[in-house]
Amino acid sequence: MRQYKAHGQMKRAWQPAVAVAGISLVLGVGRAEAQTVDITKRGTTPDSALLTPTIIDAGRKIFHGRGSCYACHGDKLLGGPIAPALVGPTWRHIDGSFNAILNRIENGLAGTVMMPHPGRITESQVFMVATYVWAVSHGRATP
Ligand code: HEC
Repeated sequence: MRQYKAHGQMKRAWQPAVAVAGISLVLGVGRAEAQTVDITKRGTTPDSALLTPTIIDAGRKIFHGRGSCYACHGDKLLGGPIAPALVGPTWRHIDGSFNAILNRIENGLAGTVMMPHPGRITESQVFMVATYVWAVSHGRATP
C-alpha cells in the first residue's frame, strides 16, 4: 500500500512536463526529477530553467562520464594535447556563447576528433553538458 502511494507520487511529479509550449525536451536528472526545456531557446546564455545546480551537476557527470569529454578536454576543462581548453574567455573556433557551445556538441567539427554527440549522448544530455561547460567558462560553476 505504501509503495503504491509512492509510485503515484512519482508519476505526478513527471506530469507538468507535458504542458509546455514550443519544442520541449524533458531533461531527466534523477528518478523523481524532471526539468523541461524549450530546445528552440538557444541564446547567448542558457535559459534560466537550465541554469540550476541540479542541471549543472548532471552536466558535470556527463562531462566526466558518458560524454567522455574529460578524456580530451581534461578533468578541469583546461585542455590537453588533443583538445583545447573550455574555460574561456578565448576559444579556438567558437565565440563561447551557449548557442555556440551547444552547436559544437551537437554537430562536432568535421575534420577533427570533435564528434557530434560525443559518447553518443542524447539530445537532453547535450543540453545539460553544454550548460555545465557554459557555467564553468562563465564563472558560474566549478569544474
Ligand atoms: C576525442 C576527443 C574529444 C572528445 C571526447 C570531446 N571533444 Fe570537444 N573538441 C575536441 C577537439 C579536438 C576540439 C577542437 C576542434 C577545433 O579544431 O576547433 C573540440 C572542440 C570542442 C568545443 C569548441 C572549443 C573551441 O574553442 O572551439 C567544445 C565546446 C567542445 N569540444 C565540447 C565538448 C564536450 C562537451 C564534449 C563531451 C560531450 C567533448 N567536447 C568531447 C576533442 C574532443
